[in-house]
Amino acid sequence: METLQEREEVTTMPRIGDKAPKFKAETTQGVINFPDDYAGQWVILFSHPADFTPVCTSEFITFAHLESKFDKANCKLVGLSIDGLYSHIAWLRTIKDKIEFNGMKNIEVKFPLIEDITMKVAKTYGMIQPGESKTQAVRAVFFIDPKGIVRAIIYYPLSLGRNFDEIYRALIAMQTADKFSVATPADWYPGDDVIISPAGSCGVAEERMTSTDELTCKDWFFCTKKLDKDTILDAILKKETIKM
Ligand code: BEZ
Repeated sequence: METLQEREEVTTMPRIGDKAPKFKAETTQGVINFPDDYAGQWVILFSHPADFTPVCTSEFITFAHLESKFDKANCKLVGLSIDGLYSHIAWLRTIKDKIEFNGMKNIEVKFPLIEDITMKVAKTYGMIQPGESKTQAVRAVFFIDPKGIVRAIIYYPLSLGRNFDEIYRALIAMQTADKFSVATPADWYPGDDVIISPAGSCGVAEERMTSTDELTCKDWFFCTKKLDKDTILDAILKKETIKM
Protein backbone atom coordinates (compact mmCIF):
# COMPACT_ATOMS: atom_id res chain seq x y z
CA MET A 1 0.00 0.00 0.00
CA GLU A 2 1.35 3.40 -1.03
CA THR A 3 2.05 5.85 1.79
CA LEU A 4 0.67 9.38 1.59
CA GLN A 5 4.24 10.69 1.26
CA GLU A 6 4.94 8.40 -1.73
CA ARG A 7 1.69 9.44 -3.36
CA GLU A 8 2.46 13.14 -2.91
CA GLU A 9 5.99 12.63 -4.22
CA VAL A 10 4.83 11.25 -7.55
CA THR A 11 2.01 13.69 -8.08
CA THR A 12 3.75 17.04 -7.52
CA MET A 13 4.07 19.07 -10.68
CA PRO A 14 4.83 22.64 -11.64
CA ARG A 15 1.84 24.61 -12.83
CA ILE A 16 1.43 27.19 -15.57
CA GLY A 17 2.92 30.46 -14.29
CA ASP A 18 5.33 28.73 -11.86
CA LYS A 19 9.10 29.00 -12.07
CA ALA A 20 10.42 25.84 -13.75
CA PRO A 21 11.98 23.71 -10.97
CA LYS A 22 15.76 23.73 -11.16
CA PHE A 23 17.83 20.57 -11.57
CA LYS A 24 21.26 19.45 -12.68
CA ALA A 25 21.35 16.32 -14.85
CA GLU A 26 23.58 14.10 -16.95
CA THR A 27 22.48 14.03 -20.60
CA THR A 28 23.63 12.67 -23.94
CA GLN A 29 25.16 16.13 -24.55
CA GLY A 30 26.87 16.47 -21.15
CA VAL A 31 25.69 17.96 -17.87
CA ILE A 32 22.92 20.57 -17.98
CA ASN A 33 21.72 23.01 -15.34
CA PHE A 34 18.03 23.43 -16.02
CA PRO A 35 16.55 25.92 -16.74
CA ASP A 36 19.49 28.29 -16.10
CA ASP A 37 21.45 27.08 -19.15
CA TYR A 38 18.48 28.16 -21.30
CA ALA A 39 17.98 31.68 -19.92
CA GLY A 40 16.88 34.03 -22.70
CA GLN A 41 15.50 31.19 -24.83
CA TRP A 42 12.34 29.13 -24.86
CA VAL A 43 12.86 25.49 -24.00
CA ILE A 44 10.59 22.49 -24.42
CA LEU A 45 11.24 19.83 -21.77
CA PHE A 46 9.53 16.62 -22.78
CA SER A 47 9.41 13.10 -21.38
CA HIS A 48 8.92 9.77 -23.09
CA PRO A 49 8.24 6.33 -21.57
CA ALA A 50 11.34 4.37 -22.56
CA ASP A 51 14.22 3.97 -25.00
CA PHE A 52 13.91 1.29 -27.72
CA THR A 53 10.12 1.58 -27.97
CA PRO A 54 8.36 2.29 -31.27
CA VAL A 55 6.14 5.30 -30.51
CA CYS A 56 9.03 7.05 -28.74
CA THR A 57 11.31 6.28 -31.68
CA SER A 58 8.84 7.86 -34.13
CA GLU A 59 8.65 10.94 -31.87
CA PHE A 60 12.41 11.34 -31.55
CA ILE A 61 12.90 11.10 -35.29
CA THR A 62 10.21 13.74 -35.81
CA PHE A 63 11.46 16.10 -33.11
CA ALA A 64 15.09 15.79 -34.25
CA HIS A 65 13.98 16.47 -37.85
CA LEU A 66 12.21 19.64 -36.66
CA GLU A 67 14.97 20.81 -34.29
CA SER A 68 16.26 23.55 -36.61
CA LYS A 69 12.70 24.87 -37.06
CA PHE A 70 12.31 25.18 -33.28
CA ASP A 71 15.78 26.70 -33.04
CA LYS A 72 14.76 29.45 -35.51
CA ALA A 73 11.94 30.24 -33.09
CA ASN A 74 14.52 30.60 -30.30
CA CYS A 75 13.44 27.33 -28.73
CA LYS A 76 15.67 24.48 -27.54
CA LEU A 77 14.56 20.89 -26.96
CA VAL A 78 15.40 18.67 -23.98
CA GLY A 79 14.16 15.07 -23.69
CA LEU A 80 13.95 12.75 -20.69
CA SER A 81 13.18 9.16 -19.88
CA ILE A 82 13.76 6.87 -16.93
CA ASP A 83 16.66 5.11 -18.59
CA GLY A 84 20.42 5.25 -18.14
CA LEU A 85 22.90 7.16 -20.25
CA TYR A 86 24.29 4.11 -22.09
CA SER A 87 20.80 3.00 -23.05
CA HIS A 88 20.10 6.50 -24.40
CA ILE A 89 23.35 6.51 -26.40
CA ALA A 90 22.70 3.04 -27.84
CA TRP A 91 19.11 3.94 -28.76
CA LEU A 92 20.05 7.21 -30.48
CA ARG A 93 22.79 5.40 -32.43
CA THR A 94 20.26 2.76 -33.53
CA ILE A 95 17.81 5.47 -34.62
CA LYS A 96 20.48 7.10 -36.79
CA ASP A 97 21.82 3.87 -38.26
CA LYS A 98 18.69 1.80 -38.81
CA ILE A 99 15.33 3.48 -38.44
CA GLU A 100 13.32 5.28 -41.11
CA PHE A 101 9.99 6.89 -40.24
CA ASN A 102 7.67 8.89 -42.52
CA GLY A 103 10.48 9.32 -45.06
CA MET A 104 12.93 10.60 -42.42
CA LYS A 105 16.15 8.58 -42.07
CA ASN A 106 19.77 8.92 -40.86
CA ILE A 107 18.43 11.27 -38.23
CA GLU A 108 20.89 12.34 -35.58
CA VAL A 109 19.36 13.46 -32.29
CA LYS A 110 21.51 16.42 -31.30
CA PHE A 111 19.44 17.80 -28.44
CA PRO A 112 20.14 16.54 -24.89
CA LEU A 113 18.36 13.45 -23.59
CA ILE A 114 18.40 13.37 -19.77
CA GLU A 115 19.22 10.16 -17.92
CA ASP A 116 16.77 9.91 -15.05
CA ILE A 117 17.19 6.44 -13.69
CA THR A 118 16.45 7.71 -10.15
CA MET A 119 13.23 9.42 -11.42
CA LYS A 120 14.29 12.58 -9.61
CA VAL A 121 13.44 14.93 -12.46
CA ALA A 122 10.40 12.94 -13.61
CA LYS A 123 8.91 13.11 -10.12
CA THR A 124 9.66 16.82 -9.73
CA TYR A 125 7.88 17.56 -13.02
CA GLY A 126 4.91 15.23 -12.44
CA MET A 127 5.89 13.06 -15.39
CA ILE A 128 5.04 9.89 -13.48
CA GLN A 129 1.29 9.41 -13.53
CA PRO A 130 0.86 6.29 -11.40
CA GLY A 131 -2.53 5.33 -12.86
CA GLU A 132 -0.82 5.04 -16.27
CA SER A 133 2.57 3.67 -15.16
CA LYS A 134 4.59 3.72 -11.95
CA THR A 135 7.89 3.11 -13.74
CA GLN A 136 7.64 4.94 -17.06
CA ALA A 137 7.12 8.65 -17.65
CA VAL A 138 4.05 9.64 -19.65
CA ARG A 139 4.49 11.90 -22.68
CA ALA A 140 4.66 15.30 -20.98
CA VAL A 141 5.54 18.54 -22.77
CA PHE A 142 6.56 21.60 -20.73
CA PHE A 143 6.95 24.93 -22.54
CA ILE A 144 9.29 27.18 -20.54
CA ASP A 145 9.81 30.80 -21.52
CA PRO A 146 13.03 32.86 -21.66
CA LYS A 147 12.49 33.91 -18.02
CA GLY A 148 12.25 30.30 -16.84
CA ILE A 149 8.46 30.38 -16.32
CA VAL A 150 6.26 27.39 -17.24
CA ARG A 151 3.87 28.72 -19.88
CA ALA A 152 2.04 25.62 -21.13
CA ILE A 153 1.86 21.92 -20.35
CA ILE A 154 0.51 19.12 -22.55
CA TYR A 155 0.18 15.51 -21.46
CA TYR A 156 -0.33 12.42 -23.61
CA PRO A 157 -0.70 8.80 -22.48
CA LEU A 158 1.87 6.10 -23.29
CA SER A 159 0.15 4.83 -26.41
CA LEU A 160 -0.37 8.20 -28.12
CA GLY A 161 2.39 9.80 -30.17
CA ARG A 162 2.46 13.59 -29.98
CA ASN A 163 1.33 16.02 -32.70
CA PHE A 164 4.41 18.13 -33.43
CA ASP A 165 2.49 20.63 -35.57
CA GLU A 166 0.47 21.45 -32.46
CA ILE A 167 3.58 21.77 -30.31
CA TYR A 168 5.10 24.22 -32.82
CA ARG A 169 1.78 26.07 -33.24
CA ALA A 170 1.44 26.48 -29.47
CA LEU A 171 5.00 27.86 -29.23
CA ILE A 172 4.44 30.42 -32.01
CA ALA A 173 1.02 31.38 -30.59
CA MET A 174 2.53 32.10 -27.15
CA GLN A 175 5.37 34.10 -28.68
CA THR A 176 2.83 36.06 -30.74
CA ALA A 177 0.72 36.75 -27.64
CA ASP A 178 3.80 38.06 -25.81
CA LYS A 179 5.11 40.17 -28.68
CA PHE A 180 1.84 41.77 -29.80
CA SER A 181 -0.19 41.73 -26.55
CA VAL A 182 -3.00 39.71 -28.12
CA ALA A 183 -4.64 36.33 -27.62
CA THR A 184 -5.19 33.64 -30.24
CA PRO A 185 -8.54 31.97 -30.93
CA ALA A 186 -9.33 28.29 -31.46
CA ASP A 187 -7.26 26.59 -34.16
CA TRP A 188 -5.28 29.79 -34.79
CA TYR A 189 -2.35 29.79 -37.18
CA PRO A 190 -0.15 32.80 -38.05
CA GLY A 191 -2.06 34.99 -40.52
CA ASP A 192 -5.46 34.34 -38.91
CA ASP A 193 -7.10 37.19 -37.01
CA VAL A 194 -6.05 37.61 -33.37
CA ILE A 195 -8.16 38.50 -30.35
CA ILE A 196 -7.69 41.69 -28.38
CA SER A 197 -8.24 41.71 -24.64
CA PRO A 198 -11.88 42.19 -23.56
CA ALA A 199 -13.05 45.72 -22.74
CA GLY A 200 -12.45 46.51 -19.07
CA SER A 201 -14.97 49.35 -18.75
CA CYS A 202 -18.37 50.39 -20.12
CA GLY A 203 -16.70 53.27 -21.98
CA VAL A 204 -14.25 51.01 -23.79
CA ALA A 205 -17.07 48.54 -24.52
CA GLU A 206 -19.04 51.35 -26.18
CA GLU A 207 -16.00 52.56 -28.13
CA ARG A 208 -15.32 49.07 -29.42
CA MET A 209 -18.87 48.76 -30.77
CA THR A 210 -18.89 52.18 -32.45
CA SER A 211 -15.36 52.62 -33.77
CA THR A 212 -14.69 51.69 -37.35
CA ASP A 213 -10.92 51.37 -37.09
CA GLU A 214 -8.83 48.21 -37.25
CA LEU A 215 -11.06 46.15 -34.93
CA THR A 216 -13.85 43.78 -35.90
CA CYS A 217 -16.23 43.32 -32.95
CA LYS A 218 -18.86 40.57 -32.92
CA ASP A 219 -19.92 42.01 -29.59
CA TRP A 220 -18.27 44.29 -27.01
CA PHE A 221 -16.32 41.39 -25.47
CA PHE A 222 -15.31 39.64 -28.71
CA CYS A 223 -13.07 41.80 -30.88
CA THR A 224 -10.46 40.65 -33.38
CA LYS A 225 -7.91 42.37 -35.57
CA LYS A 226 -5.75 41.42 -38.50
CA LEU A 227 -2.13 40.50 -37.82
CA ASP A 228 -0.16 39.70 -40.89
CA LYS A 229 1.76 36.39 -40.98
CA ASP A 230 4.98 38.03 -42.22
CA THR A 231 4.81 40.64 -39.45
CA ILE A 232 4.62 37.84 -36.88
CA LEU A 233 7.34 35.69 -38.38
CA ASP A 234 9.63 38.73 -38.89
CA ALA A 235 9.26 39.60 -35.22
CA ILE A 236 9.66 36.07 -33.88
CA LEU A 237 11.95 34.02 -36.06
CA LYS A 238 15.72 34.43 -36.03
CA LYS A 239 16.99 36.12 -39.15
CA GLU A 240 19.12 34.03 -41.50
CA THR A 241 22.73 35.17 -41.46
CA ILE A 242 23.40 36.75 -44.83
CA LYS A 243 26.64 35.36 -46.29
CA MET A 244 28.74 38.08 -47.95
C1 BEZ B 1 6.16 3.20 -27.33
O1 BEZ B 1 6.88 4.20 -27.30
O2 BEZ B 1 6.00 2.53 -28.34
C2 BEZ B 1 5.40 2.80 -26.09
C3 BEZ B 1 5.99 2.99 -24.86
C4 BEZ B 1 5.29 2.60 -23.73
C5 BEZ B 1 4.03 2.06 -23.86
C6 BEZ B 1 3.43 1.92 -25.09
C7 BEZ B 1 4.13 2.29 -26.24
